[in-house]
Amino acid sequence: MGHILCFQYSGKLLNQFYFYTPLPENIEEPWKIVVIDALVKMTSLTSFGRYLICKHFLLVCCYPFYEPISDENVTVMDTNFTDIPVRLYLPKRKSKSQRRAVIFIHGGAFVLGSCKQKAWDFLNRWTANRLGAVVVGVDSLYQFPVSYEDAMSPVKFFLQDKILAKYRVDPSRICISGDSSGALLATKATQLVQNDPKFKNKIKAQALIYPALQIVDTLTPSYREYAHGPILPMDFAIKIGSLYLSKDKALFQAFRENQHMPHGSRHLFTLVNWSTLLPEKYRRNHIYTEPILGRHNFSYPLLLDSRISALLVNDSQLQSLPLTYILTCEHDILRDDGLVYVSRLRNAGVNISHDHIEDGVHGAISLMTIPFYLRVGIRIGEKYISWLDENL
Ligand SMILES: *[C@@H]1O[C@H](CO)[C@@H](O)[C@H](O)[C@H]1NC(C)=O
Ligand SMILES: *[C@@H]1O[C@H](CO)[C@@H](O)[C@H](O)[C@H]1NC(C)=O
Ligand SMILES: *[C@@H]1O[C@H](CO)[C@@H](O)[C@H](O)[C@H]1NC(C)=O
Ligand SMILES: *[C@@H]1O[C@H](CO)[C@@H](O)[C@H](O)[C@H]1NC(C)=O
Ligand SMILES: *[C@@H]1O[C@H](CO)[C@@H](O)[C@H](O)[C@H]1NC(C)=O
Ligand SMILES: *[C@@H]1O[C@H](CO)[C@@H](O)[C@H](O)[C@H]1NC(C)=O
Repeated sequence: MGHILCFQYSGKLLNQFYFYTPLPENIEEPWKIVVIDALVKMTSLTSFGRYLICKHFLLVCCYPFYEPISDENVTVMDTNFTDIPVRLYLPKRKSKSQRRAVIFIHGGAFVLGSCKQKAWDFLNRWTANRLGAVVVGVDSLYQFPVSYEDAMSPVKFFLQDKILAKYRVDPSRICISGDSSGALLATKATQLVQNDPKFKNKIKAQALIYPALQIVDTLTPSYREYAHGPILPMDFAIKIGSLYLSKDKALFQAFRENQHMPHGSRHLFTLVNWSTLLPEKYRRNHIYTEPILGRHNFSYPLLLDSRISALLVNDSQLQSLPLTYILTCEHDILRDDGLVYVSRLRNAGVNISHDHIEDGVHGAISLMTIPFYLRVGIRIGEKYISWLDENL
């Protein structure tokens, strides 16, 4: 059975090679990117039903699960915070002072589902090792709004005095991080904790790696330029994004044409308007077009929801945000989500560091281990961890 599936998939894979679009010149290790790109495109070609099979294929072959194996420096263990599985990385080195802590929410949207997968296990272990910090890898099921609640509840749990004391964490040195869709959840968790007086312990820093921050506008310059990949083609991203809402094909099509927003939502576009919020360098010669509203009037409240489009919060909710690190990759449809958030946070007076990786591709930080090892992934991991080490 496995072999038959493999044959089918390699057929698809070959097709993808055949139709593959040339990569930009500044990309390192292009053939590796082509293979990963082809795997993703293969998934996006399938119908919603077969999509699940492909998801499992990607999961098992490319993102294997990894046991909680302790090493000489870090004790690794799986436990549950509230009902949500988390993986804890506890440094063994004796330390007189309390430790820093990083809560990491992994990306991968619907395709990949656990902090226990090798890619994120590697990153979190590396973070704990380098920083001597307690790292909490949070599992997330990614079924909105369940994913939102799933990601928030372990954060709330961890921030309690008694839990921080149990792991000897310094309450004034906690960071929330995430990549891609996990960075959306990290963004929301930070917005929540900083703005809600119920949280006594606040966040010192947030670190967002190529965050996905809005589903309002699918015609930003980066959506236009990188619609066909590499790694995250628009159809794939939209398929994943619209699955949050429904399996309605009309919605999927409307997203592709940027005609999905209902009548009366124009005011929301001010908060994501790339024409005013994107630096000149990235606007290039793209012409801003006014959104087409009310073509369908879908009744999906999530289209207007700031839990799924974190950019939709107003400036007064941004002012309370902590020290922020945002990393964007050039070759990424989500590039402008990150860049627009950088502008919004700067305008709101938040202390922000921004790294833009000119030869970066979406997903690179989860591509640091065999079989998909990318040097640019290691470079991004190194930048993220160095920033944490200096600022947390
Ligand atoms: C443990 O820490 C030491 C000193 O920082 C380092 O040289 C070693 O590579 C680390 N071990 C692992 C498994 O990462
Ligand atoms: C975590 O909870 C799940 C059920 O939600 C349970 O199956 C699992 O055994 C628990 N894990 C631990 C380490 O307690
Ligand atoms: C976006 O900004 C441009 C100015 O650069 C403005 O003309 C346009 O009306 C704005 N669009 C929306 C929906 O706010
Ligand atoms: C959407 O709603 C607006 C206002 O209620 C209406 O003018 C418009 O015709 C509607 N569009 C469709 C396709 O029904
Ligand atoms: C910002 O949004 C919050 C929450 O939705 C709301 O309570 C507040 O009044 C808004 N502030 C401004 C200035 O619009
Ligand atoms: C921003 O944060 C960094 C690191 O914590 C600090 O060194 C710097 O002075 C801050 N900048 C501003 C403008 O507050």
